Amino acid sequence: MTLPDQSQAALDWRDGSTPVSTRFDDPYFSLANGLAETRHVFLAGNGLPERLCPGFQIAELGFGTGLNLLATAIAAGDVPIRFTSFEAFPMSAPEIARALTAFPEALAVAAPFLEAWGQGRTRFSIGAIEAEVILGDARQTLPAWQGRADAWFLDGFSPAKNPELWGEDLMAEVARHTAPGGTFATYTAAGFVRRGLAAAGFAVERAPGHAGKRHMSRGVKP
Ligand SMILES: C[S@@+](CC[C@H](N)C(=O)[O-])C[C@H]1O[C@@H](n2cnc3c(N)ncnc32)[C@H](O)[C@@H]1O
Repeated sequence: MTLPDQSQAALDWRDGSTPVSTRFDDPYFSLANGLAETRHVFLAGNGLPERLCPGFQIAELGFGTGLNLLATAIAAGDVPIRFTSFEAFPMSAPEIARALTAFPEALAVAAPFLEAWGQGRTRFSIGAIEAEVILGDARQTLPAWQGRADAWFLDGFSPAKNPELWGEDLMAEVARHTAPGGTFATYTAAGFVRRGLAAAGFAVERAPGHAGKRHMSRGVKP
């Protein structure tokens, strides 16, 4: 599948390498060390890497720069897992490469991803991970997805600025596409998001956030 040209990311850059979406008026990752936030919120928040095992399926709302994928690839080592991400406004390979210059550790493992992405390929291997990015609005693409995730990374822009990626109907689809005992984690503790995830059947709890943020959220599907 090739990348569509009408729905691309619209970007501004802060400090040279931090992409900020002009469509959503929000940065792609924490300005206080995005890689550390990824590890705290999405990996530790889902009990990873401890839960990883062959065939483990991670799914993500909001692929962005692929930083979460790269952090997962580093954490997974040689455990063969799957990572599926949903993205409506893909960044180009040069834009992603520029953003990743802020994270040398992630950039160091990014070559197979950047090469595939530059060729318009949305399925590729990175380390032991089979990755797929499903392009389009997640409100349409997730209901059609055949997979079920063991762990979800909910990483839209802030719920105030990107409410469509956090709505109750979409959270119900997240739950419907979660294996029994599966989990989610997200950096936000916004009330309507937590209520939507609880209504969808997750046992939701608050946990300490990253770098001065009081709370994040995580949960498990019984
Ligand atoms: C905070 S960024 C994700 C950062 C990313 N996980 C990373 O590692 O760089 C949020 C992403 O959600 C995407 N997005 C926003 N609305 C969407 C929608 N309705 N469907 C799919 N993706 C969406 C944005 O284009 C953006 O790439």
